[in-house]
Amino acid sequence: ADVKKIAVIAGDGIGPEVVAEAEKILKRTEEVFGLSFETEHALFGGIAIDKKGTPLPEETLAVCQTADAVLLGAVGGPQWDNNPKELRPETGLLGIRKELGLFSNLRPAVVFDCLKDASTLKPEVLEGTDLIVVRELTGGIYFGEKFRRESPQGEEAVDTCAYNVTEVERIVRQSFEIAQKRRKKLASVDKANVLETSRLWREVVNRVAVDYPDVELEHVLVDNCAMQLLRRPSSFDVIVTENMFGDILSDEAAMLTGSIGMLSSASLGQGSFGLYEPVHGSAPDIAGQGLANPIATILSVALMFRLTFGYEKAADAIEKAVAEVLDAGHRTADIAVDKSQAISTTQMGDLIAAAIR
Ligand code: NAD
Ligand code: IPM
Ligand code: MN
Repeated sequence: ADVKKIAVIAGDGIGPEVVAEAEKILKRTEEVFGLSFETEHALFGGIAIDKKGTPLPEETLAVCQTADAVLLGAVGGPQWDNNPKELRPETGLLGIRKELGLFSNLRPAVVFDCLKDASTLKPEVLEGTDLIVVRELTGGIYFGEKFRRESPQGEEAVDTCAYNVTEVERIVRQSFEIAQKRRKKLASVDKANVLETSRLWREVVNRVAVDYPDVELEHVLVDNCAMQLLRRPSSFDVIVTENMFGDILSDEAAMLTGSIGMLSSASLGQGSFGLYEPVHGSAPDIAGQGLANPIATILSVALMFRLTFGYEKAADAIEKAVAEVLDAGHRTADIAVDKSQAISTTQMGDLIAAAIR
């Protein structure tokens, strides 16, 4: 059989807890659909700092580079927060994205009907919400030059934000193509009234738009977009934006679905290789207690199947299983209305695995 190699990086905090549930899904789909996976675990993030002295060890990168796809939990935690930059888990995360050339981060936010009561927003506002944030992932202020210097008013810190046309064009083209396969609406989000990088961004979007006349394009300033996401979420289809705006807007979009524990993501480059991870972090406040919602990570496996492996049927089956378990009323604490009825991370994983057929 065609054996797919998956690098599995559990990471820190709730990372190992949610990844363990996603691995149950891999196993189950092997049985049900006759698929075959070879998983290789690797150290990454805070745990790699503790054990190897660096957040992204060479061998971890090598495991990822020889794999067909990467499944990642989350990294970070208070014990590493005061480390110098090279010894921070988050630096490893930026490093792995850059090293693997993963410039495009897809973050779908879909409101499950039965979860409309889990959101802090009114059900009638959420009705029909199904959007995807396409976040540029290897450029902008995250990767620009950073330094400290003396100034007459004391020590000063500098972060620079840079984008070139190539970086903007490839993510924008991809977004138009995604929109063509969906409801054909693209919102490009920038701060072109202030930032030079945003003005370049908008020029490139307008130039590329000529090649996609069937897609309805709107430019939205990022502050307005943050507001419109809560006012009229269902009117958005594809949202494309730069690295930091995408980070912030996707966490906001998560709350439309009821919880950050619901949001999956795919990070892609030019080919079919991809890194799949939940949008949430290591959640140190709930780690080790079986409280984490594993659905974001499980839905990330569905994205891996669809976008990297082309296992459309198995991907659909995972998403259907999640919907079925939620429809039956099962909830982890983050999406439960009655918290006393909440089930654990492992119970949720077991139920979803069992519902795959
Ligand atoms: P977070 O996403 O870890 O947590 C924010 C809040 O959401 C917390 O209250 C947490 O309990 C809750 N939450 C998150 N995931 C959940 C889940 N699956 N189920 C239920 N509740 C969930 O963000 P934070 O607290 O700002 O960051 C914590 C650490 O994670 C930091 O070190 C940060 O740098 C790191 N981080 C890592 C990633 C990543 O690895 N991709 C992403 C975001 C943050
Ligand atoms: C995310 C996270 C990361 C980011 C951090 C942990 C570096 O917030 O994946 O959304 O900002 O990209
Ligand atoms: Mn984030």
